[in-house]
Amino acid sequence: MKSLHHSLSLLFIVVCSLSWVSASANSHDDFLECLYSYHPKESSSITQVIFTESNSSYSAVLDSSIRNHRFSTPNTPKPLVIVTPLNISHVQATIHCSKKQGLQIRTRSGGHDFEGLSYVSHVPFVVIDLVNLRSVDVDVENEEAWVQSGATVGEVYYRINERSTNLTFPAAVARTVGIGGSISGGGDGILFRKYGLSADNVIDAQLVDANGRILDRRSMGEDLFWAIRGGGGGSFGIVISWKIKLVHVPSTVTVFSVGRTLEQNATQLLHRWQYVAPNLPNDVYSVVTLSTTNGSENRTKTVLATFISLFQGGANDFIPLMQERFPELGLVKEDFIEMTWIESLLLLNGASNETSEILLDRSNRYSFLPPSFKSKSDYVREPMPEIALQGLWPQLLEVDEGGIAVQNIFAYGGIMEEISETETPFPHRKGTLYKIYYNIGWLEEENNNSQRYISWMRKLYSYMGPFVSKSPREAYVNYRDLDIGRNNDDGKASYKQASIWGRKYFKNNFDRLVYVKTKTDPKNFFKHEQSIPPRFH
Ligand SMILES: Cc1cc2nc3c(=O)[nH]c(=O)nc-3n(C[C@H](O)[C@H](O)[C@H](O)COP(=O)(O)OP(=O)(O)OC[C@H]3O[C@@H](n4cnc5c(N)ncnc54)[C@H](O)[C@@H]3O)c2cc1C
Ligand SMILES: *[C@@H]1O[C@H](CO)[C@@H](O)[C@H](O)[C@H]1NC(C)=O
Ligand SMILES: *[C@@H]1O[C@H](CO)[C@@H](O)[C@H](O)[C@H]1NC(C)=O
Ligand SMILES: *[C@@H]1O[C@H](CO)[C@@H](O)[C@H](O)[C@H]1NC(C)=O
Ligand SMILES: *[C@@H]1O[C@H](CO)[C@@H](O)[C@H](O)[C@H]1NC(C)=O
Ligand SMILES: *[C@@H]1O[C@H](CO)[C@@H](O)[C@H](O)[C@H]1NC(C)=O
Ligand SMILES: *[C@@H]1O[C@H](CO)[C@@H](O)[C@H](O)[C@H]1NC(C)=O
Ligand SMILES: *[C@@H]1O[C@H](CO)[C@@H](O)[C@H](O)[C@H]1NC(C)=O
Ligand SMILES: *[C@@H]1O[C@H](CO)[C@@H](O)[C@H](O)[C@H]1NC(C)=O
Repeated sequence: MKSLHHSLSLLFIVVCSLSWVSASANSHDDFLECLYSYHPKESSSITQVIFTESNSSYSAVLDSSIRNHRFSTPNTPKPLVIVTPLNISHVQATIHCSKKQGLQIRTRSGGHDFEGLSYVSHVPFVVIDLVNLRSVDVDVENEEAWVQSGATVGEVYYRINERSTNLTFPAAVARTVGIGGSISGGGDGILFRKYGLSADNVIDAQLVDANGRILDRRSMGEDLFWAIRGGGGGSFGIVISWKIKLVHVPSTVTVFSVGRTLEQNATQLLHRWQYVAPNLPNDVYSVVTLSTTNGSENRTKTVLATFISLFQGGANDFIPLMQERFPELGLVKEDFIEMTWIESLLLLNGASNETSEILLDRSNRYSFLPPSFKSKSDYVREPMPEIALQGLWPQLLEVDEGGIAVQNIFAYGGIMEEISETETPFPHRKGTLYKIYYNIGWLEEENNNSQRYISWMRKLYSYMGPFVSKSPREAYVNYRDLDIGRNNDDGKASYKQASIWGRKYFKNNFDRLVYVKTKTDPKNFFKHEQSIPPRFH
């Protein structure tokens, strides 16, 4: 169990150490005045949710959900004001006053954006942090729930489980991921091969648009409702809450996690996995984690491929399935461990010694992600040849002790094959064998060489080019990567420029996203480095 725990911990690599230097004070008086006068009756309540640099808790509030410390340095631009709304009228007031004062808004739910776009901008800006809007109202009878965007996936898992242990929601694995951002970009997790993405299981939503109007599915119309379920956060408005469809989990699930080094045929096994995993039944979640380790025999550094799976059912069904489909892996009965669904979530979160209450914890505790990191993604549609894998190993092995390079490969297939590419903006469906999540992390405080690690990541990405999807080389919008293109710092974007990264994230759905944007936010109020641009001729 201990080594299982350890190897699982590589899945989502870690954590926290905040440095803070206050940026120079800026003029925000007009904005604050506007907020106070917007709803005079509620001004007493709105003062409790406004943080400027003069408030002693400003830094704590800003840092509270920053996950990538590359964007938490003294040089990182800071918001003039942070608003933590208690209700929708605070959101409306912030939109109204930001517009009036020419300030940009960045919306933050869980703060996991890989490029920090939910809390960093290079023009004067305000952060709306939805941390206080995180209710989860579960309707067991109808197997539905209304979930506010500020909830984490951990809170959603916990609140549903509290009401029914056989219901859940298909969402991200790491408990601290925000509902707001993850649904906005799709959201894959343990159950996506069986039930689809988080976004595939949304049946209604409440959104505040650029005019401050509160819209639901009916009043926003099917185009906008389509766009917010995978078109990426921060382009169309602020989603306050989502009505989600709950799904069934059995009383017992089964997990295995086995590591194989190069000396133990990791190359051949990973090569074979490409043919096996995407075709496994929908009940199986299958991931391979690539890391490096000191070999057991002569302590030579080697690559470790850890094969991790979670099955919706008992070991009696899972063991024969794996022995038939993947005998080469050499699994033995002892590798299979049965547990409840909620225990499997704790395990995959590196917190199996905790009770389920840890799912409510919004801190970085037990997170395996290094403080600072650079990530990228690829989708693969043809199995890679063995020789390509052999060329990959030296690159993984060249990372020095200060860098933590862990690559995760997630099997696709299952129901993802059956959902049309245009059903939601998320296009990586039929024919996708797997997704690669590249990640390099480092402990910022221990060296000043982040550029070296970022360069390493870019070189790896360039090496992989010939072996992954092409025209476009697909990428996952929830693994935001500004290397693949960006709008200007002031949020201006030409359609042509944006369609480069836009087609990687959305393929031809990009055109419909541009159409929806043009219709609903023609003045481009909601914008960031990779927001969908409106288009005019
Ligand atoms: C440790 C870790 C584990 C992860 N695991 C998974 C995983 O298992 N599966 C997966 O699919 N992804 C995963 N991700 C990626 C994750 O889904 C994205 O980073 C997602 O965007 C995070 O959502 P958030 O609310 O936490 O982020 P935020 O940084 O708050 O938001 C992300 C983007 O959405 C916008 N946004 C946020 N809230 C709203 C809102 N209410 N309305 C409109 N726009 C909004 C933001 O402005 C920003 O552009 C993981 C990321 C990390 C760091
Ligand atoms: C922060 O400071 C402002 C201005 O000094 C004040 O109006 C507001 O109430 C303070 N916010 C909190 C949460 O204390
Ligand atoms: C907004 O929140 C305040 C403070 O909790 C409350 O007094 C007020 O009634 C709320 N308004 C709405 C519309 O929910
Ligand atoms: C789910 O659990 C509830 C009790 O929480 C039970 O009444 C119901 O029969 C279960 N449903 C299924 C499909 O197992
Ligand atoms: C690796 O594969 C070779 C050839 O298939 C086989 O002979 C050998 O026993 C395998 N080694 C391990 C450690 O499984
Ligand atoms: C691996 O070996 C190197 C060199 O001997 C050593 O510095 C390092 O600490 C070892 N790492 C682990 C995880 O044992
Ligand atoms: C260490 O083991 C690896 C893999 O078995 C082998 O390739 C290498 O030659 C060995 N090195 C030494 C010094 O024995
Ligand atoms: C679980 O283990 C961690 C260390 O790995 C420890 O810090 C924590 O206190 C433990 N939690 C409980 C509830 O024992
Ligand atoms: C990193 O840079 C900072 C500021 O430039 C400096 O104070 C610190 O000594 C450097 N650390 C190392 C390990 O070089």
